[in-house]
Amino acid sequence: MPKVTYIAHSGEENEVDLPVGWTLMQGATLNGIDGIEGECGGSCGCATCHVYIGEAWLDKLSAAAENEEEMLECTVSPRETNSRLGCQIKVTDELDGIVVRLPEEQS
Ligand code: FES
Repeated sequence: MPKVTYIAHSGEENEVDLPVGWTLMQGATLNGIDGIEGECGGSCGCATCHVYIGEAWLDKLSAAAENEEEMLECTVSPRETNSRLGCQIKVTDELDGIVVRLPEEQS
């Protein structure tokens, strides 16, 4: 299974193995990792799953859809060039080892 490392704003790191097809939001919330809320359940309606993608992984992701782009304007912590919504990124074998940083605040 692909490994995903979540780095909290505090610097705490959690590495988890996620089944292919899970989203980065599911991987955090179902493994008890603080820093992602996922209030809307993954329907791209809340922006509480905001993450900062490690630069080395950005090229491996498909571009954000229009609704994700709109929700990224609603994040509580600042949007950066590597900001994405965790519920819109599904884990694939190609993403094995991906590192995502969690913002200071989600809501
Ligand atoms: S969980 Fe609500 S936008 Fe991602």
